[in-house]
Amino acid sequence: MYLLELGGEDDAFAAREARSAATGVRRIGPGIALANAIDPVRVRGLAYTHRASDLLGRTDATLDSARALLEAASIDREGTVAVRATDVHGSTGVSTERAERELGQLLVDRGFSVDLEEPDHLLRVVFSDGTIERDPDDGVLEPLDGGDEPVDERRSVCALGWLAAESVRDFGTRAPTEKPFFQPGSMDPLLARAVTNIAGARSGATILDPMCGTGGVLVEAGLVGADVIGTDAQSKMVRGARENLTHYLDRDESAPIGVDRGTWHVGRGDATRLPLADDVVDGVVFDAPYGRQSKIETHRLEDLVSGALSEARRVAPRAVVIADRSWASAAREAGWGIEAAFERRVHRSLTRYVLVLSA
Ligand SMILES: C[S@@+](CC[C@H](N)C(=O)[O-])C[C@H]1O[C@@H](n2cnc3c(N)ncnc32)[C@H](O)[C@@H]1O
Repeated sequence: MYLLELGGEDDAFAAREARSAATGVRRIGPGIALANAIDPVRVRGLAYTHRASDLLGRTDATLDSARALLEAASIDREGTVAVRATDVHGSTGVSTERAERELGQLLVDRGFSVDLEEPDHLLRVVFSDGTIERDPDDGVLEPLDGGDEPVDERRSVCALGWLAAESVRDFGTRAPTEKPFFQPGSMDPLLARAVTNIAGARSGATILDPMCGTGGVLVEAGLVGADVIGTDAQSKMVRGARENLTHYLDRDESAPIGVDRGTWHVGRGDATRLPLADDVVDGVVFDAPYGRQSKIETHRLEDLVSGALSEARRVAPRAVVIADRSWASAAREAGWGIEAAFERRVHRSLTRYVLVLSA
């Protein structure tokens, strides 16, 4: 079993993304989830999971409990060790320095030597206390007391695990304003990575963004190994997306995630009349224009989104749609089932709705 350390503000969304890299994901406390198995390369490409560790055990969020757990645990490892502790959102008040020192001493007592710089094995200790909100759509909240229905409940958790995989935190180098081609309204690379992972981006998969804008979604999908296709109604965007994709995907140096970057094709096109045969892509992701965005070429916004949803359904079995409103009924009318829905507050006047759709 594995311990996942979630990042960001929205654990349900983070857990949904983690399912692209792990099986049996269920949240057990704020910022923490468990998984049955992980794919370490895919964990490297996650946006909202920081680490996956081989679970040693879990208990309640006190240092005494953590000590008791480590004392009793069987450890089939050899080599040097280090302990790193974290207190999620400062919720437990446990001193992480003291936890690192005392748990490190327990390992020394059991014959291990400590190497803080380059340990052979790093023990992650995660303390967390707080309420996990029941989210009817995420489907990944661990039921309490063996019951069928998960409920909102306060959880006090300490989980210990040996670090197995970490996500690559290089998103800052792809902030919209860092890109060779920038336009206002470009998607943040963390969100773009998460939605492409949810849509199924990985080596061997093909991901389409039919309204690709600056190519933010395509760059993130290509970096986790997917082959990507983009269209946009504006030639300016097509040129700009090509510039960005050349910059981030056509590189000689080895890829940080450990998979080859995907191939890409971008052309001018109308999302409501895609120049693609039926069922040729694995997942569609698009960021619908917002009500106040002016460049909606030739279509009313409603017709554009409905037409794009129908075309997405024709070419792919899954889609993720990001917008400033829900569009759930338009998605159902286009033949999609709603697998999950998330609301992500960007700032006071902008909430992004993320719909996860499947055929
Ligand atoms: C919100 S932006 C996409 C932003 C993009 N995700 C990014 O990171 O840059 C929406 C895009 O839809 C494009 N668009 C509008 N109508 C379209 C249509 N009928 N077909 C294809 N693209 C269209 C616009 O030109 C714009 O680039």
